[in-house]
Amino acid sequence: MSEPSVIALHSVDLGVLDPAAAAVFFTETWGLKTVSDDTDAVWLRGTGPFHHILALHRRPGTEILRVNLLAPDRTAVDALHGKVSAGASAHGLSEITAPAALGQPGGGYGFAFRDREGRNLAIVAEIETHADTADAADRPRKLAHVVLNADDPEGSVDLFTDLLGFRVSDRTRMHNFLRCGDAAAGPIDHHNIAIGNGGGAKLNHIAFEMPDLESVMRGAGRCRDAGWPIEWGVGRHGPGNNVFAYFVGVEDIPIEYTAEVEQVDESYPTGSPDDWGWPKGRSDHWGITDPPSDRLKTAQSRVGFAADSFAL
Ligand SMILES: [Fe+2]
Repeated sequence: MSEPSVIALHSVDLGVLDPAAAAVFFTETWGLKTVSDDTDAVWLRGTGPFHHILALHRRPGTEILRVNLLAPDRTAVDALHGKVSAGASAHGLSEITAPAALGQPGGGYGFAFRDREGRNLAIVAEIETHADTADAADRPRKLAHVVLNADDPEGSVDLFTDLLGFRVSDRTRMHNFLRCGDAAAGPIDHHNIAIGNGGGAKLNHIAFEMPDLESVMRGAGRCRDAGWPIEWGVGRHGPGNNVFAYFVGVEDIPIEYTAEVEQVDESYPTGSPDDWGWPKGRSDHWGITDPPSDRLKTAQSRVGFAADSFAL
């Protein structure tokens, strides 16, 4: 890739009412592990190399504080800062911080900005990584994707594609699926970010990648045992062909276990809404799940982005 580009979805910072209680859910039930904590925040990792994939910060309400997108190195961070700054007027970006060391466990270097919808996004690099990265049979590896609702989906897609190096994999009636990463180095995930058609600056859901379908089933069973019912699934999506099980987790945070995300290269033909649709009564390939629960649909339109800037 000649242009400076985001190469991965790194992590999400969430605001929660009670970080310690939320961390109990995300460790004992969801399958993450605590890497660092203090009185007001907890940082959690998957089995993959990223220092953390989810951070929970004490806030007066449940909200999404920041989506962190990984760049290859600080040179790329600086270059992306240049592109974001140059494109700020055209894309309605504001509150762009200067690239600097990140004051968080795992360190790193990056900058943040607010997009036209009111989302806090950050471009980060050089955060510590873990050497122990073996899969576990029922634990998430990493974030697979984040889905963000939008009042201006085309504007959001343009931001991610024009400035941050994402490409459009598929468009459906509901969502626009965007991928990042260098496909010249090998196949990449079909999508890492999806933009919803409608709904404002809200979190639709965060998806955590499991090693395989068996792991999705085992994790889903663990959640059910702990009193967290499956709200949609188990099923297999259309775009991305990934298996899924959705939950409304602690503080009604919408979350998904997923696996077997389609691996694509740059020859992938971008699909349109006409390419994707389900026969009546279906919401996935298999046809064994009911549609999403009302509880899930409510959760997918409730968690907004913080109105204040979240300092890096
Ligand atoms: Fe998803």
